[in-house]
Amino acid sequence: MNNSFLDACWGKPVERTPVWLMRQAGRYLPQYMAIRSKCTFLELCKSPDLAAEVTIQPVDILGVDAAILFSDILTPVEPMGLKLDFNPGPVFENPVRTMADVEKLRIPDPDADVPYVMETIRILRRELANKVPLIGFGGAPFTLACYMVEGKGSKDWSNIKRMMYSAPDVFNALMEKITMMDMEYLNAQIRAGAQAIQIFDTWGGILAPHDYERYVLPYTTKLINGLNRQNIPIIHFVKGAGNMLPIVQKAGSDVMGLDWQTNLGTARDLLGDKMAVQGNLDPTVLYSSNEYIEKEVKRILDENNNRPGHIFNLGHGILPTIPPENAIHMVECVHRLSQR
Ligand code: CP3
Repeated sequence: MNNSFLDACWGKPVERTPVWLMRQAGRYLPQYMAIRSKCTFLELCKSPDLAAEVTIQPVDILGVDAAILFSDILTPVEPMGLKLDFNPGPVFENPVRTMADVEKLRIPDPDADVPYVMETIRILRRELANKVPLIGFGGAPFTLACYMVEGKGSKDWSNIKRMMYSAPDVFNALMEKITMMDMEYLNAQIRAGAQAIQIFDTWGGILAPHDYERYVLPYTTKLINGLNRQNIPIIHFVKGAGNMLPIVQKAGSDVMGLDWQTNLGTARDLLGDKMAVQGNLDPTVLYSSNEYIEKEVKRILDENNNRPGHIFNLGHGILPTIPPENAIHMVECVHRLSQR
């Protein structure tokens, strides 16, 4: 068993820096497209054998040190009562706007309402047994609320912000309900066999630090506190949080995910030596030459300066038009340049 990923999450020394890529299963891989061409994205998420197969693809193709469950942060929102579609981004046909909308939302029973997620995890633990650990994941309450209120992606997220500032009772009731859903959902993933949990807060960085602290931090903190996390490291990735890392740190995760707009060395100085970090290569660097990719990998390893508790990753998800051989090269560079 390759335990370097879990060891690094706990700040233990490792022989070489572990690496995986956010969105490592996906459209940049022809092997994914071959399966995806026969069904929709949601059908793929709901077919445990296929979801397990595309989860394992990047482990074999890229040689990464962890697998991440193939699903979406919005999968458990559908059984809350919102009809979900992907085109290619997520679309809810009945977004949440009023207190009555919030009151109608259910808190799903994960084993009964998203059984395919738990079954995918069980298949993966069997199939990955002698390879690498399996990461489960969920969206942070705020990022889920963003999609549930807007109904889709947005440039300025004005509906969710309007709700936050002008109808805080509705916003708080919604965040509370999502937090309870998330807690049940992620604990069910842990029961099914997830060995680490990543919480994605893709849109946390659109708020001013004091607003993040007031409107978002209490819910993410409650979520993390409610996870049955003995031996399960929690990775918290808030995109765009470089200017408020000490606030985000209060949520209590074991590992801080860093986007590329933050200097990894400076972030580590700020976070202290008890907290592991994950990141943080700009995903678009993977469009460049082998030499350039190697130079950038080396720069990040140098910023880390041999401190234990570093998991190499991109600063956000890999893009669909990246040549797979460049991702393979990146993983090889991390392993070769970090060999102790
Ligand atoms: O990392 C992995 O390989 C695991 C699978 C995974 C997916 N989505 C699969 C996916 C994970 C961890 C996610 C998380 C996710 N989903 C986030 C948080 C991380 C981030 O990227 O910011 C968000 C915001 C979503 C919501 C979402 N899902 C969007 C905005 C989109 C469309 C954007 C795009 O890439 O086109 C999706 C669709 C999606 N989720 C795809 C995949 C592989 C593409 C679906 C397809 O095959 O057509």
